[in-house]
Amino acid sequence: MRAFFLLLKHDILHGMDEIALIKKVALSSAKKAGRILREGMTRGLTISYKGDLNLVTQIDTLSEQMIVSEIRKHFRNHQILAEEGHNYESASPYRWIIDPLDGTTNYAHRFPYFCVSIAVEFQGFIVLGVIYDPIRQELFVAENGKGTTLNNRPIGVSPVLNLREALLVTGFAYSVKTDLKNNLNHFSHFVMKAQGVRRMGSAALDLCYVAAGRFDGFWELGLNPWDTAAGFLILTEAGGTVTDFAGKPFAIDHPEILATNGKIHPAMVALLGKGKSTIGG
Ligand code: IPD
Ligand code: CA
Ligand code: CA
Repeated sequence: MRAFFLLLKHDILHGMDEIALIKKVALSSAKKAGRILREGMTRGLTISYKGDLNLVTQIDTLSEQMIVSEIRKHFRNHQILAEEGHNYESASPYRWIIDPLDGTTNYAHRFPYFCVSIAVEFQGFIVLGVIYDPIRQELFVAENGKGTTLNNRPIGVSPVLNLREALLVTGFAYSVKTDLKNNLNHFSHFVMKAQGVRRMGSAALDLCYVAAGRFDGFWELGLNPWDTAAGFLILTEAGGTVTDFAGKPFAIDHPEILATNGKIHPAMVALLGKGKSTIGG
């Protein structure tokens, strides 16, 4: 019996050590990647296209290579899902979900709104979210059950109660010109009801800004797990609400996200319900 408890204690301590190390590696690689992004702003960019509008630079790849090699140094067996293709599947309960540069179009135009996004899942649940804006040097961190911090200080969502006083943010998928689910109809509805609507160009940072009370709500169609995984935990741990457009639980592989301060959530669900996701549909 005593041996069993000693073994259990060892496992718990080992688990705690592992989480602490995961956090350390996630924070240091987000900052190192941020440095790569910042330095890259002063250099010439090699741009290639993954689609009509979807571009990628050598800095996206460099940033991802660095993050993945840092993870590999410490956790050989952890699974990885990364936007630029450094993926790895295994039986490990841990999975890292990485966007090495969220806001690439902004980056290519030297528009300073972009970030590095790193999330860690344990058995399918996101337990850590880290997003770093290297221009403003803002580091958003959330751990499951421990709240959200911005540069080590706790943050929370805004107190805004209605759409009329709300500043909203959205985005448009790269398929905006060809996909009938292009968000334009929802966009026009919110422009008419909200105090203001912005399109900033980095979904991960948009979620952090809702978490910090700078925006009151965010919605978008057609995002990928690396765009939303870290921001989802950062916002929910800051007291926000994240669902699909119908108000049902959000999953990172779900194509719709509605993320708010909670108070304006029902009003946004109602307006999204009145909109059409398709042109003329
Ligand atoms: C994009 C940004 C943008 C959103 C796009 C994303 P990327 O990610 O998050 O705000 O509107 O749908 O694909 O390509 O810059 O990593
Ligand atoms: Ca992205
Ligand atoms: Ca990206």
